[in-house]
Amino acid sequence: MMIYLVLITVTLISSATCEKLCLYCDHVPIPQDCSRVVRCGAHEDCYVEKFVTPDGYKYYSLGCRDIDKCSGVSAIGKRSSGSLVLRDNLPVEEANDNGDTSFCRACCNGKTICNVDNLCGSPEPNTYGGHICFHCAQVEHPGKCNQITLCGQGQSCKVVQYINRFSKRPNYSSGCEERDECSLLNDSTECCDSDFCNDNLPCKVRLNDNPVLSIPYINQEGDVEFNCTFRSSTSRLDVMYKVSWTVDGHPLKNRNGIDEVTLLSSYEHVAILDAYNLNGNLNKMLRCKVEPQCSIGDPLPGSHSNGYWVGIKISPQRISHTVEQNITLVSTLPVISSDGLHKLYIGPQIEST
Ligand SMILES: *[C@@H]1O[C@H](CO)[C@@H](O)[C@H](O)[C@H]1NC(C)=O
Ligand SMILES: *[C@@H]1O[C@H](CO)[C@@H](O)[C@H](O)[C@H]1NC(C)=O
Ligand SMILES: *[C@@H]1O[C@H](CO)[C@@H](O)[C@H](O)[C@H]1NC(C)=O
Ligand SMILES: *[C@@H]1O[C@H](CO)[C@@H](O)[C@H](O)[C@H]1NC(C)=O
Repeated sequence: MMIYLVLITVTLISSATCEKLCLYCDHVPIPQDCSRVVRCGAHEDCYVEKFVTPDGYKYYSLGCRDIDKCSGVSAIGKRSSGSLVLRDNLPVEEANDNGDTSFCRACCNGKTICNVDNLCGSPEPNTYGGHICFHCAQVEHPGKCNQITLCGQGQSCKVVQYINRFSKRPNYSSGCEERDECSLLNDSTECCDSDFCNDNLPCKVRLNDNPVLSIPYINQEGDVEFNCTFRSSTSRLDVMYKVSWTVDGHPLKNRNGIDEVTLLSSYEHVAILDAYNLNGNLNKMLRCKVEPQCSIGDPLPGSHSNGYWVGIKISPQRISHTVEQNITLVSTLPVISSDGLHKLYIGPQIEST
């Protein structure tokens, strides 16, 4: 009896937990007036500091602060609302370089832009039932947007991809969109309905059906080739199709011993395999596999084509020793014999039973 042990390692990756998003402003009358954010390091917390000028004007500064600087004063404790931890929220009296006096500092973590959250006497934020969304005109990656906005009730967060006409490089804009409009959009645009959700554009490219592996044909140069053809409908221009080949389910290695892979651009839908690369793989089932990949977003599962058995079929399979018989050999690959040097040698192995 055989026992197979299967170990499955699950790695949970969450971009939300490894990046702390904090409000990032200097000299704002109240933290809610700050619409700029910053992604803080692993060893940093969000902070808010309240100052007063010599003439009595009060303002806030917000951003990231090293955890060590935050924990100078022992932790105050957890708020009942959840994960917010105040490490330091004590009144401090300290003169600043510019003569302003800092009279409250607070650090927090565990919640996105927690430094707007009722610290140092700032008012409790109210989103009036709207989502807080990233709001940028043109960024290289939606996750690099550092402006936020409060969208209205009935609005979703949106991210749109544009392809630069000359460089062909994508750039992104983000903001609010009416929920009704969102249903009409193509897959270069994504709407989502939670705070800060529009920092990515999921790759939703799907093949219309499984790729089709053609029968082998002889091209104009006299080489034997296979076509792997697929159909895909997407409005995205930043998609690439990775086409690989398998023989009996194993990746096909090319002449250099590396996996034979063709990368196709968004407008190419045929990959060609030169049968020369099948060297050493006779009598096996050939398939192609197509995996769409976008320039951002998680990779997608691939689709496999039909199989084509590459080899030489012998019939009948059982040959009598005593009776004269005709044996038929059929090669499923075209046999090219344009000159006498290239001969096909076939040595059937006779096994007696
Ligand atoms: C972003 O794309 C838009 C639309 O194609 C273009 O007008 C703009 O110049 C691009 N911006 C950058 C920084 O590439
Ligand atoms: C294979 O693909 C090439 C390139 O798209 C095309 O010209 C050719 O007609 C195809 N041949 C077959 C047999 O599918
Ligand atoms: C996708 O939709 C957006 C928004 O409606 C539009 O600006 C863009 O041109 C569309 N892209 C394609 C390739 O249809
Ligand atoms: C084998 O094939 C040849 C040519 O087609 C035919 O003349 C002969 O009768 C066949 N022999 C047998 C045993 O079927």
